[in-house]
Amino acid sequence: MNDPTNPLLARAYSLSGPEEAEQVYDEWAETYDTDTVDGMGYVAPRLAAQRLAELVAEPAVVLDAGCGTGLAGAELAKRTQLTIDGIDLSAGMLAKAGQLGVYRHLSTADLTKPLDLVDGSYDAVICVGTLTGGHVGPAALDEMVRVVRPGGYVVVTVQGTVWETGGYRAHLDRMVGQGAIHLREATDSPYHEREGINGYLCVLDVR
Ligand SMILES: C[S@@+](CC[C@H](N)C(=O)[O-])C[C@H]1O[C@@H](n2cnc3c(N)ncnc32)[C@H](O)[C@@H]1O
Repeated sequence: MNDPTNPLLARAYSLSGPEEAEQVYDEWAETYDTDTVDGMGYVAPRLAAQRLAELVAEPAVVLDAGCGTGLAGAELAKRTQLTIDGIDLSAGMLAKAGQLGVYRHLSTADLTKPLDLVDGSYDAVICVGTLTGGHVGPAALDEMVRVVRPGGYVVVTVQGTVWETGGYRAHLDRMVGQGAIHLREATDSPYHEREGINGYLCVLDVR
């Protein structure tokens, strides 16, 4: 983070758990897009949406998990006619996403808990920027895979600094070993471009 004068950025990267995350993101919602896209060169939503758009045939229904203000949904809507639902912990972020008019349904949900969604009810999940330090850990990948039908995709970004240390890589390896997914890609990609921070753009084929 290049801007030490923005206390919200600092707090977002040292969250103690879902309660604090909800509070920080509710406060950050108004300036989040400017701070991240313009300020940090946050390209992960565009790159992940681009990749999902290449994979999924229309018509299809996609869940944007940890959708925030809707950056990934907006990028998907530019490229596709997919039906997109969004879930997030923060009502403030969801309110911003709602203003875009690209989501069918938006609702609050905690990705660290079991999701109130039926098995196999989506053709794909996209999750950008949410699998990162102090946010949502690798166990959430199990729920993302559960709600996608066999043959569908989960496209996620994992912030590069926590890929190994946060257990994401090991968790994905375990999921492959259990036969739940085929890890089609885990590509080292630009994430916060202005800060020289990369992430892993992962494509999971759901079995
Ligand atoms: C860095 S933002 C990414 C938002 C959006 N996907 C994007 O790329 O701009 C992280 C998002 O994760 C959400 N979040 C954090 N913890 C969460 C949790 N336990 N369950 C659901 N969402 C969570 C925050 O509210 C925030 O909207």
